[in-house]
Amino acid sequence: MSIVSSRPTSAKDALAPYKSLDNETLQARIAAVRASLGSRLLILGHHYQQDEVLAMSDLRGDSYQLSKMAAESGDCRAIAFCGVHFMAETADILANQPAKLAARGGQRVTVVLPDLAAGCSMADMAAIDQVEGAWEELGEVIDAADITPVTYINSAASLKAFCGRHGGIVCTSSNARAVLEWAFQRTSRVLFFPDQHLGRNTAKAMGIPLEQMPVWDPHQESLGGNTPESLRASKVLLWRGHCSVHQMFTAAHVDLFRVKVPGVKILVHPECPMEVVDKADVQGSTGKIIREVETAPPGTKWAIGTELHLVNRLKEEHPEQEIHFLSPVVCMCATMYRIDLAHLCWSLESLAAGTAVNVIRVDDETSRLALLALERMLAVK
Ligand code: 13P
Ligand code: SF4
Repeated sequence: MSIVSSRPTSAKDALAPYKSLDNETLQARIAAVRASLGSRLLILGHHYQQDEVLAMSDLRGDSYQLSKMAAESGDCRAIAFCGVHFMAETADILANQPAKLAARGGQRVTVVLPDLAAGCSMADMAAIDQVEGAWEELGEVIDAADITPVTYINSAASLKAFCGRHGGIVCTSSNARAVLEWAFQRTSRVLFFPDQHLGRNTAKAMGIPLEQMPVWDPHQESLGGNTPESLRASKVLLWRGHCSVHQMFTAAHVDLFRVKVPGVKILVHPECPMEVVDKADVQGSTGKIIREVETAPPGTKWAIGTELHLVNRLKEEHPEQEIHFLSPVVCMCATMYRIDLAHLCWSLESLAAGTAVNVIRVDDETSRLALLALERMLAVK
């Protein structure tokens, strides 16, 4: 398989014929590409994807599991990432790290994101120039050498590279605590971006008081809206970013379910606001949410606070349990939802034809530095 990267004159035009096909036809054509490329193709799917897309994936997982799968991708030469942009970037960095490239005689793994518009609004809340500006300002008030930058994996490759360059590290929702413990063995402070909620929920569970977690607002004129004193007293500086999906769950939703469904267990993702996580019975990554439900005895009652597609799938796969969606309003990740069978089929057929579209390629220097931060994360137990 030779993969040549090219862009059609218009993605919309190229996609149009696929949009008119029914699901059955698209599934058959996707299956044909999978059969022809065999183990040279790996389709990865995040838990928030639509069911029909996940049905076409070789492997599914949370962000941490998917990163590991990309890092371990054996003889595959192409990854179609059914997720969002930062995940495909991470896959490109890990699958094409120097040791892997050398083992493949220099052959790259081509990573495609079936729809380039599948971004993450949280990741967009921290831009590299804002983080560099914050770092510089912080250095005028506190010793920057005593701060470990920690980026949630939901961030651009440039931010992972920033962490790599400054002795920092990446975390996911499944290892955030272990990563913060790693950081505190090195420095007395952490700058955590872009998700204030994951940072706050994790640090709070470690016993760090809220007064030592000032929020850095990149849109404020100076010091992120903080005083020099509050920065000097800080342990964890939280970037003012959030997930627009998980931000919609509230403490009132938890209270309502406790009354409406006696004995209910509240299970939430740590991107939810602190007031929600504080009232929950269990919190964890998408992978952990699934494991909790899979291992619970029949008859367990759950109200789950995470993306709608995952909760609906759990409901369907576990009729022996009573599963509710924690919010009365729809909380759906609109960007994950952009990946559909039409985009997947288009990107796979383009790959197979040697004219790959929607290729995600992180530049070499950014990859080199981001890999340092990702490797530190993968080494944390
Ligand atoms: P997980 O790492 O838990 O899969 O979460 C990814 C994500 O984007 C949650 O919003
Ligand atoms: Fe980003 Fe939130 Fe969607 Fe996850 S659910 S990809 S954090 S916007």
